[in-house]
Amino acid sequence: MSGNYHKDAKSILVVDDDLSIRSLIADALREVGYSNIRETENGIQALETFRKEACDLVISDLKMPGMGGLELLSQIKELNPSTPVIIMTGYPTINIAVSSMKEGAFDFLTKPFTIKNLIFKVELYLKERSILTEEDLNIEKTNWKLSEKIRKLSIINLIYERIEKTQGDNDDIFQEIVMLALNVTGGEKCLLVLFDEANDKYYRKIFQIKSEHSISPASLGEGDAMVESLKGFFKEVVQKRGALLLNSKETNGFYGSLICAPLIIRNKVFAVITVTSKDAVYNFTRKDLSYMLNITARASLHLENKLLYESLFGSIMDTFEALVHSIHARDNYTERHSQSVTKLALNTARAMNCSACEIESLKISSLLHDIGKIAIPDKILLKEGPLTDEEYTVIKDHPIIGENILKPVVLIDAERKIIRHHHERWDGKGYPDGLSGEDIPFLSRILSVADSFDAMTTDRPYRKALSIDKATAELQKNRNIQFDKNVVDAFIRSEG
Ligand SMILES: [Fe+2]
Repeated sequence: MSGNYHKDAKSILVVDDDLSIRSLIADALREVGYSNIRETENGIQALETFRKEACDLVISDLKMPGMGGLELLSQIKELNPSTPVIIMTGYPTINIAVSSMKEGAFDFLTKPFTIKNLIFKVELYLKERSILTEEDLNIEKTNWKLSEKIRKLSIINLIYERIEKTQGDNDDIFQEIVMLALNVTGGEKCLLVLFDEANDKYYRKIFQIKSEHSISPASLGEGDAMVESLKGFFKEVVQKRGALLLNSKETNGFYGSLICAPLIIRNKVFAVITVTSKDAVYNFTRKDLSYMLNITARASLHLENKLLYESLFGSIMDTFEALVHSIHARDNYTERHSQSVTKLALNTARAMNCSACEIESLKISSLLHDIGKIAIPDKILLKEGPLTDEEYTVIKDHPIIGENILKPVVLIDAERKIIRHHHERWDGKGYPDGLSGEDIPFLSRILSVADSFDAMTTDRPYRKALSIDKATAELQKNRNIQFDKNVVDAFIRSEG
């Protein structure tokens, strides 16, 4: 049973009388892949839209002229009780909280809220919908149990809070999610393995038995045996990047029932968490699966922020900055150049309305784009005077060398590609692959314009710098010859 779904197949209705908030939410949803978004400015319009075509999820403001959020909520619940509705409010009170829950609101967000938090909730509820079968939905329709819903909401809130509040190192977070998994599913054993993609291996990170306070060496042996016997399931989870729920018959009764779910960072599965039930009689339910999806989604998000930007990514970036500095020891130009290209490229990207993700990617690749020059001999890199054809061929290797230097760092796959192609030309006459037009990665096209402009406006051993005007004219002249014309236009806009 998978919790995956196609984002573009899901329709979301965003209702708010404040245009700026409405657009902010709609844009953020589109950015993460939801293309089917409808927007209305009050409850009446929303209801009309919903009557014409029901949607999978509604996000609504509480206070709006005409018809407010609570009224809309109760009307939607009459039309389709299983549609998740998220209510946003600037003034949360217990009364509103209780009455919206009585009306069947799934959740509410207190303004100001973070977009990340909203997206998480949207994904959570849509995921949950895709797990529940028609039969489950019918049971829900006829047997509306407020206490059950509140219990579920509190468990989900608990999951958010516990993961969000976990301080300490990554092991503490792993330990916390293992404990949560055991608690919310009522499972007996929980195993968290790290996935080493390069060697296709799984390593036991945490193994916990609910009834044991601390883990004995004998239990650790059991954990390792479990890694061996569950490998096939891990593989399946990694391949489909979605969770598995199996009952005791499907697992041959050995482990009882099991839920196996991936932890994903930057689109890569880096760990798999598995809970198993006490015996062959106890089977996990779809609700347990949805809790596990909550845990893994939240933990992945948390770890992504933490791992990526604080420790792992931070130290990787420190290492690379040190490398850029080491080029500086030989060549004054490269370091200053890297920083100024980064600035120009980011300004252009902002002028082209790039997403936060693209901007982050471009920042890394601009800073490191010439890192391959580290392998170019001094006599060529520092040569005063024009290069021979042979020397030029050596220089032209630097994008590929740069890509290779960064190869061991799986977290920057996308950036490596951008670096490889920063000397491609729109007309296909660039290097190393002679890509042309839109085959060149978009961010490489931005990097190329920023790179060339900075090179033209800097004194080099073999020629004087061009003036800003002359360099700009040079970019203009090469629109759709060397450079993507849209990028040139955005560059000029951003620098003008
Ligand atoms: Fe370069």
